[in-house]
Amino acid sequence: MPEAVRWGVIGSGGIARRRTIPEGIIAAPNARLAAVFDIDPAINREVAEQFGTSAAESIQDCLAREIDAVYIASPANAHFEHAMACAAAGKHVLCEKPLGMTVAESEAMANAACKAGVLFGTALMMRFHSQHLEAKRLIEQGRLGKIVYARAQLSCWYPPIPGAWRQDTASGGGGSLMDMGGHCMDLLETFLGPAARVSCFVRNTVHDYKSEDSAVAMLEFASGALGTADTFFCITDEGSRNALELHGSMGSIVAEGTLGQADRGRMTAILKESAGGYEAGQVRDAAGGIDISPTPVNMYLAEIESFSNSILAGSEPAVGVEAGIRSQRVLAACYESARTGRAVSV
Ligand SMILES: NC(=O)c1ccc[n+]([C@@H]2O[C@H](COP(=O)([O-])OP(=O)(O)OC[C@H]3O[C@@H](n4cnc5c(N)ncnc54)[C@H](O)[C@@H]3O)[C@@H](O)[C@H]2O)c1
Repeated sequence: MPEAVRWGVIGSGGIARRRTIPEGIIAAPNARLAAVFDIDPAINREVAEQFGTSAAESIQDCLAREIDAVYIASPANAHFEHAMACAAAGKHVLCEKPLGMTVAESEAMANAACKAGVLFGTALMMRFHSQHLEAKRLIEQGRLGKIVYARAQLSCWYPPIPGAWRQDTASGGGGSLMDMGGHCMDLLETFLGPAARVSCFVRNTVHDYKSEDSAVAMLEFASGALGTADTFFCITDEGSRNALELHGSMGSIVAEGTLGQADRGRMTAILKESAGGYEAGQVRDAAGGIDISPTPVNMYLAEIESFSNSILAGSEPAVGVEAGIRSQRVLAACYESARTGRAVSV
């Protein structure tokens, strides 16, 4: 194995081109871009030229190159086929979320990687956000007391676009919940531990495409805490603040803009030494709180560096395939709840 992991990319024209290749694979000292493949021939050529690498002519051609690992950033319904091909070719896999279209597909992907003896990572890159790591540290130190409630919100304006794979359940697996809710609920479980039950509503409130444009999931955590994840494709970009709130008996952390693709949002911790007595006046000091602003980390760089390091060191990935399967399980429970109108155990 060389000192830098040689990466291939499948589905190079979207997030791969915007973020993961330039900010992750090119920037990471322990990674090198060795080949790209996109099903769109013009994009395939353009991306290869843009990043000074070679464009493979097919998946098989890409996998036959001298590469150690593949980043899969194709649409959700192609992940299974692509991950199985990578495992069969003995390549390590970092796959975008959702891993597969179903829990069963994700498990089959994990089994194939395990049999082939390759590592499998899930690209839940928001776990690497420096402010999220700091929030987790404060919770683990008990600074918030007993956690009672958390909210994660990720929304955008996503009007109907002909051929958009996220707007059809057959290609996206779902809409706003599947696309963005996975990140929200993965983070909530990272902070609060496993969700035991979910109750969820999904619907099309504004757009009439096949996948939902609106979803609110309520989570009951094994710890007893409650949470909500709200994800909409029909809220203005200006109004979508991507809120994260973590509330405990002795303090809260409130943030805007840490969920998403940016390195930094605004995060404030309101911490008390003790819970104190009841204040009938309910006085709120808006200026209070501590600014949580650790050195920003580029999440795509951290993700690629971390996974490359696991390959080079032969260690388990920081965000492995079990995180992707777990996310898919929680999402499946949410859709079942929305369909049946009942709370569903995860
Ligand atoms: N981590 C993040 O910040 C982030 C952000 C956006 C999307 N995503 C995830 O990345 C994946 C891709 O999303 P996107 O927004 O980049 O989508 P996209 O549609 O913008 O890009 C997907 C690319 O894959 C290509 N493609 C389609 N079918 C293919 C196939 N069979 N073989 C090879 N290439 C194929 C398309 O031509 C396109 O260039 C999804 O799983 C999505 O959930 C992650």
